[in-house]
Parts: sequence; structure tokens; C-alpha cells
Amino acid sequence: MSTHQHWWRNAVIYQIYPRSFADFSGDGYGDLPGIIERLPYLTQLGVDALWLSPFYLSPMADAGYDVADYTVVDPLFGKTADAHELIARAHDLQLKVIIDLVPNHTSDEHEWFKAAVAAGPGSSERDMYIFRDGKGENGELPPNNWSSVFGSSGWTRLKRPDGTPEQWYLHLFDVKQPDLNWNDERVRAAFDDVLRHWVDAGVDGFRVDVAHGLVKEPGLPDQKVMTELLGTNMGPMWDQDGVHEIYRRWHGVLEPYDGDRALVAEAWVPDLDRLALYVRPDEMQQAFNFDFLTAEWDAATYRAVIRESLAANEAVGAPTTWVLSNHDVMRHASRFGRLDTGDRNGAGPEDPQPDNELGLRRAKAGTLMMLALPGSAYVYQGEELGLPEHTTIPHEFRQDPVWERSGHERVGRDGCRIPMPWTADAPGLGFSPSGKTWLPQPESYRDLAVDQQVDVPGSTWSLYRDALALRKTRALGDGELSWLEGFGGNVVAFSNGDVTVLTNVSGDPVALPEGEILLASTPVDDELPTDATVWLRRN
Ligand code: NOJ
Repeated sequence: MSTHQHWWRNAVIYQIYPRSFADFSGDGYGDLPGIIERLPYLTQLGVDALWLSPFYLSPMADAGYDVADYTVVDPLFGKTADAHELIARAHDLQLKVIIDLVPNHTSDEHEWFKAAVAAGPGSSERDMYIFRDGKGENGELPPNNWSSVFGSSGWTRLKRPDGTPEQWYLHLFDVKQPDLNWNDERVRAAFDDVLRHWVDAGVDGFRVDVAHGLVKEPGLPDQKVMTELLGTNMGPMWDQDGVHEIYRRWHGVLEPYDGDRALVAEAWVPDLDRLALYVRPDEMQQAFNFDFLTAEWDAATYRAVIRESLAANEAVGAPTTWVLSNHDVMRHASRFGRLDTGDRNGAGPEDPQPDNELGLRRAKAGTLMMLALPGSAYVYQGEELGLPEHTTIPHEFRQDPVWERSGHERVGRDGCRIPMPWTADAPGLGFSPSGKTWLPQPESYRDLAVDQQVDVPGSTWSLYRDALALRKTRALGDGELSWLEGFGGNVVAFSNGDVTVLTNVSGDPVALPEGEILLASTPVDDELPTDATVWLRRN
């Protein structure tokens, strides 16, 4: 079978964070009808698919990554029928739809967890989660030293209705996100059903949340290396070999269906070879390339990451993916404008502020480099507008559980989740008919609004549109990369098909080779200035 039949091998996939994309109802939170209304915007931009962060029933302790029912749409986002309509309308526009699957944990308000709490220690209901007696004389100490990725302990002790303490349960994230026990066959069977449910509803794939966390080392031994926020995850709860059995099973669940679906791993693992294991031929189809996302703005680093990514994926026959921003990291238009360009954590008003002008210049250069690479690429909503991170949100507005759980040490991820600016002169920048927005928008978003950029020559939006169009006509996603020499150490230089791609990463200007300039991240003549990318066809 020709690999070209698989849509996900070369697709550009646009991530929608539903609560911040477009609000139809007027409550200040984005919703599914808002997305449906804006679908033509995505086809105009030229993406192939969209990935929706969770829209399921949820108490929203972690913005919907705490799921109380995997098949019901939360009223905040609309009705369950809206999800079905969204899938159908997207398909009418030739857009594929990937949805988020959150299998590592449920909400503590999920029926399974409520039943487990009610049934008490030793019950079979408790086996669906990870309950343990505490250590110490009276069980007053947590079962081990594991911490929550969001800060503080990874264990919470339950209390009986009369207030007396009993067992502890594990939550690698918020206290309201108890970890499931994936050694329990009921958990496995239940997720087979969730997959089938949404495939029957027409989805084209699943982005698998915390794909590296489902299986824990037997005996739950103490952790020796501490976990960073969605960081270099090593330890007895991450990347255990047992996870692969689950993904082989899911591969088998999806295989009998007609058509072509993708499972996409969100796996923060120590290196690209470990990551490639998730995309072996009988497991998932894609894995996010976080080594690329977290790379510093440095030419040698990019060359190494690109080379290693392509090699690791080729070894297992999988496409390489590329991504620079998502809803968990500082937007790259700000990240590249601060001193430590590899630091993906959010920033607050008291922190050193990024140079957003420099950041955007580099972001456009980085994006043009990314979109010229063979494989599949992810674009996070708003990056096509060049949106910076909101780094001065007043603390009282913060919603990310990271802020509280870290004892106000880390501001968390709200700054990359600001409601989209659609119209410069409308209240709430056109995000909502009422003008309400669940997080405040910075003043700088006004000039960057969609209506200020669509089809405007020289805008960031137009650059993305042109890049996506050229990427398609020149088949760059299906292409092959050849490294080019002779441009100096600060230039990432490669060709893909008949396109030569040069990215000057913080170097002195370099002379451009002869050729037709197809696209450039900043105006160029006969030189490629610093922090700029050019695509050209050589004579
Ligand atoms: C990764 C998601 O992208 C993030 O937003 C979430 O907080 C954690 N997983 C926990 O589900």
C-alpha cells in the first residue's frame, strides 16, 4: 500500500483549544457552535485537519482534562449533538478531525471514581484506580514520594463521611484527576468502547493525553529523579514498557474500520528513540516531537534535532511530526524573545518580560523552517496571527491549577490560552457576542486580530497561508530532506524537493544563492538577514 494514502503522514493539523477559540453562546467561554461557525476560517488558512482539546463533561479542574464522561459534551461547550455536527461540517469542508482522549486519569466526579470511593478499601471498584494504604503508624504518610506534575504530593488521602482518614489515591496531576489502574481489564475494555464510540461518530483520530504515563512500575517504588512540569519525565511512573501493549490493543481496535485513522501520542520521554517506540507499525501513527518544540533558538541544536527525529522515525517507518506551540507551553512568539529560548514555562508580571518583536521575527523564521520539513506539522490556534504569550495576567484571573498547586511558584499555562482576537474594534475583540472573555486579553492582541490580517499582504496570517499553500503544491510534507553545506554554522540549510530552505538563526547576514524567492519570513533581497527564513527555487 502506498504510504501516500495515509492522510496523517503529511498533514498540517490545527489545534483548537475549544474554550478559547470562538464563543457562540455569549458566556465568555468558547464552544463547539463557535468552532462550527469558524470552520471556513481554517479552510481559508489551508490546514488539513483539526485537533480539538477536550470538550467532554467535566468539572473543569484542569480545563476539561478531568473527564467525568467520555461520550458527553460539557454544557459549557454545547450539546453532545454539536460534536456530531462539528465532525460532519468539518468533513464537508474536507477537514479531518482528531479528538483528545484522556486515558491516564478521570475526574474524581466520574461515576467509576465515585463508586470506588463509596465501595471502600479492598473492593473491586477501587481496583480501577490506584488506591493504597498510607505508610507510618496510622497510615498518615503517603504510600511513596511521587509528586504531582502540577506541584505538591501526587497522593491525596480520602476521608470517611465522619471525617476519619482512610486510603490514599494517586493523582499524577490535580487532586481532582485520579489515575486509572491500567492493569485492570475493565479499564482497558472501557477505553476500547470509548474509541469505538467516537470512531462510529466519524472522527479521524485521537490525540492521546499523557501516553507515557498509563502504566506504573510494579510495586510503585519511590521516585529518584524529580518530575518537571510536563518535562523530562523519567521515573517509575513514566514511559514504562507496559504502555506499548495498550497501544497495540488500540491499533487492533481501530484496524477493522474502513478508512484511515491516527493515534497521536503525547509522550514526554527522554529521547527520540524511546519516542519512536510509540509509533511502531502496530502501535500509534504519530507522536508529538517535543524535542523540536523545546529546542533552543540555535542552529546546531535544530540540525541535530531534525536529523535525529527523521532517523528515529524512519527506523520504524513513521512520519516525523513538528510542533512549536500548544496549550501547555509559552507561545513561541514570546519564547524565542526571551533570554532562555528553551524555557517553555509561562511568565507573570513579576518575571523578566520577553522581547515580543524579536520573538515574533524568530517565530516566523522558525515556523517557515518547520513547514518546509517532511512529515506532519501542528499549528496551535493563534500562532498564525503571531500572538504573543500574555505575560501580565493579573494573578486573580489565573485558572490553571498549576498556580495554586505550586504554591504560586509557577504561573502556569493561562498565558497561552487567551481567547482569540477576531475583530479589532469589537468588545472582547470579537471572541464572544457579549464581549465577555474567560481570561483577559492583552491590549497587543487588538492589532493582531483576524480581521486585521486575513489576506493582508505582509501579515503573519498571510505568511502562514502562503506557506501552507506552497507546502501542498510542492509536496513538501511527502518530500525528502537533503542537508546543504556552505552557508555557515548559524544557518540551517536543506533542500526538500526543488525548494531550498535557509534559516539564519541569530547569525550575521549571509549572501543568498541565486534563485527565485518563493517565500520569506521577512523582506529579503540578496542577503538573508539574521533570524529569517527563505524558501527559494535555485536556478
Ligand atoms: C497534558 C495536557 O496537554 C495538559 O493540558 C493536561 O493538564 C495534562 N496532560 C493532564 O491531563
